[in-house]
Amino acid sequence: MSEESLPFNEKVLPIKILKEEWERSIKNPEKFWAEKAKTIDWVKTWDKVLDDSDSPFYRWFVGGILNISYNALDRHLKTPKKNMLAYIWEGEPGEVKTYTFYQLYREVNKLAKIFKNFGLKKGDRVAVYLPMILELPITLLATARIGGIHTVVFSGFSADALAGRINDCEAKILVTSDGAYRRGKTVQLKETADRALENTPTIQKVIVVKRTRQDVSMKGGRDYWYHDLMTEVEPNVYVQPEPMEATEPLFILYTSGTTGKPKGVQHSTGGYLVWAYWTLKWAFDPDERDIWWCTADIGWITGHTYNVYAPLALGITSFIFEGTPDYPAQDRWWDIVEHHGITILYTTPTAIRMFMKFGEDWVNKHDLSTLRLLGSVGEPINPEAWRWYYRVIGKEKLPIIDTWWQTETGGFMIAPLAGLELVQLKPGSATYPLPSVLAEVYDEKGQPTAIGKRGVLVIKTSWPGMLETLWKDPERYKQAYFGRFPNVYYTGDYAVKDPDGYLWLLGRADEVLKVAGHRIGTVELESELVSHPAISEAAVMGKEDPIKGEVPVAFVVLRSGFSPSEELRANIVKHIRNTIGPIATPEAIVIVNKLPKTRSGKIMRRLLKAVLSGAALGDVSTLEDEASIEEVKATYDELKRQLEKK
Ligand code: WTA
Repeated sequence: MSEESLPFNEKVLPIKILKEEWERSIKNPEKFWAEKAKTIDWVKTWDKVLDDSDSPFYRWFVGGILNISYNALDRHLKTPKKNMLAYIWEGEPGEVKTYTFYQLYREVNKLAKIFKNFGLKKGDRVAVYLPMILELPITLLATARIGGIHTVVFSGFSADALAGRINDCEAKILVTSDGAYRRGKTVQLKETADRALENTPTIQKVIVVKRTRQDVSMKGGRDYWYHDLMTEVEPNVYVQPEPMEATEPLFILYTSGTTGKPKGVQHSTGGYLVWAYWTLKWAFDPDERDIWWCTADIGWITGHTYNVYAPLALGITSFIFEGTPDYPAQDRWWDIVEHHGITILYTTPTAIRMFMKFGEDWVNKHDLSTLRLLGSVGEPINPEAWRWYYRVIGKEKLPIIDTWWQTETGGFMIAPLAGLELVQLKPGSATYPLPSVLAEVYDEKGQPTAIGKRGVLVIKTSWPGMLETLWKDPERYKQAYFGRFPNVYYTGDYAVKDPDGYLWLLGRADEVLKVAGHRIGTVELESELVSHPAISEAAVMGKEDPIKGEVPVAFVVLRSGFSPSEELRANIVKHIRNTIGPIATPEAIVIVNKLPKTRSGKIMRRLLKAVLSGAALGDVSTLEDEASIEEVKATYDELKRQLEKK
């Protein structure tokens, strides 16, 4: 490795431990990870730490045998952690529930037994469609205990989206709830699940958690109440944790890409757990004194890794909240921090920007002195939001750990590491890569960009938490992540390296949007839009939004016989809510006569982008090669008029 590729600028950074760890991990990954993996309990240790003989498919801890639910629960029972709180949970209506590691272990064993009674076997898939209640982590752990593979579908997704995911992985069991609370109202979850279940032939049993107590229909022989099943099994039942190969899958999590249907990101058991454990330890170093609050929903990767596996494996107390930040009042979160004594808060820039809008008074009503670290994830944090977070929440004392990573990476990849050695922070930069991560910024040709010049972020190494493949689609895995540049992992993000070697993440370089931190593919939106009977063509673009980062805006062309109306727009919005889910609701539906295209028929996305950002067209010659400048200008003006009308 050449000197240039070292990420640390020693002239400006008097850092030592971090640099040494990073160098060791790059020079000899096998030795490095053999040491680190000892913090996990193995039934049998690995034969080989890293097998890259079939790259880009990397296999970590080959031959190693373990169970992740054992690592999250059983192993703590031999220590004083047994009676420590694993979870403190607060429901939206305000009730509080806690589980010690021992109590959680009991619940997980009971549900694992129920799964076994239903005939669930190693390798079978369990779909999960639940709000943020403790039955959610219990379901994941029970699935992992018997060697099943879970796939969680965020509760903001629609029946169609749920069915699509269930069918893709051929899940046998669905765990859902009667409903969910949302701002004092109840949402019908079972009803949505029932619509999905009309088209999911592989589902044999449905387990329904009673949460909102609304009336739901229960189909005999298929649907069972969770609480009934749980009281029918022995309270002290013990289910032997299934010995799992480190490389056997733990879960599938569907996420948006640039083409076609969502991708089923497949994570391993061993490598994923080791990465989850170490990334949390390095970045935040939580211990028994902490109450860790990661505000992400377990429907997303952040919740999987940092609300379930990493904190449980480390044996720390996590706080989980069911509700929304502004209900019943805009200080709900600060009330929680004060009331429960939260010590580490890990959240999104969207949340921070929302609190900025609510105003400091809501925060200042509360004593936040228990906080010792702050974190950020999901989207680039703009310097204004960073400074506000630092000043108003952190009282200019607490470091902000901005963590860049992806569903595919399993855990943090670029972040300041408070638990290893904290570098000087810069507002808006995620700073340096973690050990084992050799990150580089490439230009279009696959050459490292000059310092200060924007390019795309790639990773030149493999790391234990890396996805194994896409579920039953290895070709797409190769194409999506290794198709752009040979032998390097393509992240799809823009980035720039500054003269001090700090990395600044600048948002997606592809057709993926981050709306309030949620990952949404414009391609998925477009294909659902054209499935609406009135629409013949559609293009979806992200429009900058002061709170959510960006929001989707749809440009659509109507089929003949349809004319624009408010009613039609509302109907199109409803269609998207039904096919993808409320989280993908477009901010605006702009009806146009035609979409701007090049002569070869490609939609001129840059023009649409320029219209949305309100940017002047500028240098049209660089915009799109083949189209006539006059036509581009005319289309731009027309679109702008339409958008303003909206
Ligand atoms: C974006 C979420 C800037 C990025 C963990 C990435 C970020 C995508 C950051 C993955 C950050 C995540 N700074 N951008 N700290 N964290 N992103 O799969 O565009 O839902 O590619 O995983 O979120 O989103 P995903």
